[in-house]
Amino acid sequence: MSIQTRTHVKAAEATNPQAAAAPAAKMVARDVKVFYGAKQALKGINIDILENKVLALIGPSGCGKSTFLRCLNRMNDTIDNCRVEGLISLDGEDVYGRRIDAVQLRARVGMVFQKPNPFPKSIYDNIVYGPRIHGLASHRDEMDEIVETSLKRAGLWNEVKDRLREPGTGLSGGQQQRLCIARAIAVSPEVILMDEPCSALDPIATAHIEELIDELRENYTIVIVTHNMQQAARVSQKTAFFHLGDMVECDDTEEIFTNPRDERTQGYITGRYG
Ligand SMILES: Nc1ncnc2c1ncn2[C@@H]1O[C@H](COP(=O)(O)OP(=O)(O)O)[C@@H](O)[C@H]1O
Ligand SMILES: [Mg+2]
Repeated sequence: MSIQTRTHVKAAEATNPQAAAAPAAKMVARDVKVFYGAKQALKGINIDILENKVLALIGPSGCGKSTFLRCLNRMNDTIDNCRVEGLISLDGEDVYGRRIDAVQLRARVGMVFQKPNPFPKSIYDNIVYGPRIHGLASHRDEMDEIVETSLKRAGLWNEVKDRLREPGTGLSGGQQQRLCIARAIAVSPEVILMDEPCSALDPIATAHIEELIDELRENYTIVIVTHNMQQAARVSQKTAFFHLGDMVECDDTEEIFTNPRDERTQGYITGRYG
């Protein structure tokens, strides 16, 4: 356990003796409710998102997985009639608190979407866009360094290092998705959210992203929404099952898939409903 993580545990122990044995939570959701107008999409979600682990969110379409993911970096702020209640914290700080700026938050809690969405710019400019606006790099050599490191971490460097000035949209779908991961990494996030990141990709590109997710876990905390249960089983250490706006259970991934406690989870993982 790192010194930093240890400090977090200590801080948690000081305020809550019951937290003593629990591993460090990077993000915490408590009684999170989300409404779109009068319609309630989440009914009081409680989840601890553990540091340097992959948490998979699974459940039937429309159960609220994307809605929950968007609460974590306040992407729901951008949806007109959407209202979020409850607590979401990052390193113990309320992300909806007054001192938090949503744009800064989204640099710390980055997001990768279902469909690869590179900017209509060069590969190089896709990566340096975020660092530039966040003032993380201004000199050419700093930017070169960020481009190389981010592309290496995203497993794309060798494929694109000789064509950094070519458009990102000219890459294959799988490469574009890794470019989007590199773009998220470029602003040094702590948490990376991925909403069905492989659903537009072929099996080989998917396998590549799955391997990458496993490597990224060393440096980042990851939350991934997937409708593919094999994928959840392969990439995650923790899995949360959502159903009709409730989080039914969250446990070690192996436990969820071999020994689910709730019959709704059982029904879903055995394919009784989708
Ligand atoms: N922008 C929106 N406006 C109104 N309702 C929405 C919006 N986004 C999602 N919903 C509703 O919220 C519920 C949860 O949706 P979502 O989070 O997208 O589920 P999932 O990602 O699990 O498929 C669904 O009933 C959906 O129709
Ligand atoms: Mg969704």
